[in-house]
Amino acid sequence: MDVPDVRPYHDWFAGFCRSFATPVAEDQRNLDLKEEHTGRVRENALRIAADLGLDEQGTALAEIIALLHDVGRFPQYRDYRTFRDSASVNHAALGAKVLIERRALANLAAKDRDVVLRAVTLHNVFTLPQSLDPQTALHARIVRDADKLDIWRVFAEILVLPGAERPSAAGLGLPETPGYAPEILQQLRRREMVRLKSLGTLNDFKLLQLAWVYDLNFLPSLRMVRERSIIDRLSATLPGDAAVLSAVDAVRQYVEERIAERPGA
Ligand SMILES: [Fe+2]
Repeated sequence: MDVPDVRPYHDWFAGFCRSFATPVAEDQRNLDLKEEHTGRVRENALRIAADLGLDEQGTALAEIIALLHDVGRFPQYRDYRTFRDSASVNHAALGAKVLIERRALANLAAKDRDVVLRAVTLHNVFTLPQSLDPQTALHARIVRDADKLDIWRVFAEILVLPGAERPSAAGLGLPETPGYAPEILQQLRRREMVRLKSLGTLNDFKLLQLAWVYDLNFLPSLRMVRERSIIDRLSATLPGDAAVLSAVDAVRQYVEERIAERPGA
């Protein structure tokens, strides 16, 4: 089986980012955030691929998908000045369209091209369809875990910045009021994912991001959550009442249980 050469995809992505460069500092900062995010998603994907023991071919595909998963963010931001899909376009579908239009995957075998396009398209869906072929399912799962792991990093770093220093598109424009939606706590306790449309405040968004833990597919991803103290960092700025603390504990408990199921794996 042909192992794709990954270097041209790095070059292509770097050139793609440069083509969206803008003299408007705030806009460039938002775009830089996505370029840096891509680099970190790539590192996460490579670590997951290594831990899963993927072969060279599988590892190269995981890397290419990570590099290209968010290309839709650039035209989305240029055209709408937001990263909020519900207020603009589905950036994953737009990304796949960009890759096709620019023939970015022309050197890949047809089957690999298909896997890349589908994994890019599916990287942001609420839940993956059941009926995926094994290759697409594997790669969609890797990029989804790798992506969440880095969104947590970005978000945790932003939460500790003073408001004026935060990249403007990072908090989805949600109000930073002290309240939260109690039904989201219920969902956390029931180990359920939370839908974006139920968000009213920045606190709700922190709780939604905690619920992503329930969607992680691989043990190395859960280990990275623990290693990086994701749960502590996301919950540090939440209200400290008993209801919130017990919901956060439910998330922490879940991570510990999953890791303990296969401690040596
Ligand atoms: Fe994305």
